[in-house]
Amino acid sequence: MSKLTGKVALVTGASKGIGAAIARSLGAEGASVIVNYASSKAGADAVVADITAAGGKAVAVKGDVSQAADAAALVEAAIARFGRLDVLVNNSGVYEFAPLEAITEEHFHRQFNVNVLGLLLVTQAAAARMNDGGSIVNIGSVVSRIVPPASAVYTATKSAVNGITGVLSRELGPRRIRVNAVNPGIVETEGTHTAGFIGSDFEASAITQTPLGRTGQPQDIAGIVTFLASDDSYWLTGEELYAGGGMR
Ligand SMILES: NC(=O)c1ccc[n+]([C@@H]2O[C@H](COP(=O)([O-])OP(=O)(O)OC[C@H]3O[C@@H](n4cnc5c(N)ncnc54)[C@H](OP(=O)(O)O)[C@@H]3O)[C@@H](O)[C@H]2O)c1
Repeated sequence: MSKLTGKVALVTGASKGIGAAIARSLGAEGASVIVNYASSKAGADAVVADITAAGGKAVAVKGDVSQAADAAALVEAAIARFGRLDVLVNNSGVYEFAPLEAITEEHFHRQFNVNVLGLLLVTQAAAARMNDGGSIVNIGSVVSRIVPPASAVYTATKSAVNGITGVLSRELGPRRIRVNAVNPGIVETEGTHTAGFIGSDFEASAITQTPLGRTGQPQDIAGIVTFLASDDSYWLTGEELYAGGGMR
């Protein structure tokens, strides 16, 4: 039997990048997966097709995590389609670097709305419907530890993710719902290509600070998240794992 047979998982921002790899990995371990997307329906449909072609179950559901009604609808979709919810992966995120003098209210709210408010809204809705003994995995970033210049707002959002992880591990511990954070180093995704990180001096510098000597791939993160989603990690909660090939 696979690690997640009979479990139902919701992965936010699963239409591409790290979230898509996580959804495929959870599906391959037997979970039925809600593949959330905000704008990339084709990407989410492709992830669903991959999971079902491999014998799993998945459905794509549109929703903006920063809107409370959408967050609740994602959780209700899991209950309606698969009857329960056991695993939540808060992966949706946006990143935009700017030096102090270029920070605007819009820059602040865009990132905090998705990366922090969105995480809280989906987790609030999920915790109300989740089975006791469930697992919540929050995707932070190694930036919360390496604090790169020109990343004050993004780094603040990801430091908040780690703080929220610790707090909610205490609030949800009595129900045996575990809450852990995975903080990736730089990973090659659609998002990091669009942001211009891949192939840049930023990537080259990150690789020199990475003992394992390369940029991460989405599946490097997916395996770690799948471990945290499964009962193999049953004694871990409130942890901040750094998943960056040793970058810290
Ligand atoms: N890649 C890295 O180097 C790296 C490193 C550390 C941490 N991270 C974190 O890992 C996560 C994924 O990063 P990535 O590089 O895979 O990003 P990506 O390729 O840009 O994909 C982002 C995903 O988030 C979704 N999303 C954006 N806004 C949303 C919203 N309001 N509601 C719901 N979904 C939304 C996107 O959906 P649509 O495409 O459908 O709009 C997409 O599926 C983020 O939290 C990021 O901060 C990434």
